[in-house]
Amino acid sequence: MTNLKKILAVSAAMLALVAGSAFAQSGDDAIAKRIQPYGEVCVAGEECASQTPAVAAAGGGEARSGEAVYGQFCTACHGSGILEAPKTGDTAAWEARLAAAGSLDDLVVSAITGVGAMPPKGTCSDCSDEEIEAAIQHMSGL
Ligand code: HEC
Repeated sequence: MTNLKKILAVSAAMLALVAGSAFAQSGDDAIAKRIQPYGEVCVAGEECASQTPAVAAAGGGEARSGEAVYGQFCTACHGSGILEAPKTGDTAAWEARLAAAGSLDDLVVSAITGVGAMPPKGTCSDCSDEEIEAAIQHMSGL
């Protein structure tokens, strides 16, 4: 064999190797992975792996702090006192609200049901009663 032929033979062998491993990689698994659907359909009554975290986030998860709920949902109105919402940190306004309602629990109830321009749960529709109460305490100091 001439040197050139040797080089060609080696190159051919290398090419075969590379091509071979490329084929190996694009096996059924790799293709399935590439074309797998983004979401997942879950049938009622059957286990569904991707369902668990969503459920945990909505209900069973850890309660958000009053500060977190306030910052996300209540500050829009209570931060500025828009629509005559009792303002955050306005102790006198909140004391008056407390006196009118009767107790902190009553304020929680009215925040949950909504009152006047105050939407039910202050738009935090998945807030628990405790999270609403914590948010009220955070902004009122009660
Ligand atoms: C869209 C504006 C808006 C948002 C958002 C909002 N509130 Fe209010 N809130 C109001 C207004 C306006 C009032 C005064 C209602 C009235 O007395 O007529 C009010 C009143 C209240 C009161 C006093 C109720 C009473 O009986 O005196 C509480 C408690 C309260 N809000 C809690 C919250 C909490 C907690 C959040 C967030 C989870 C929140 N609000 C988000 C507008 C809002």
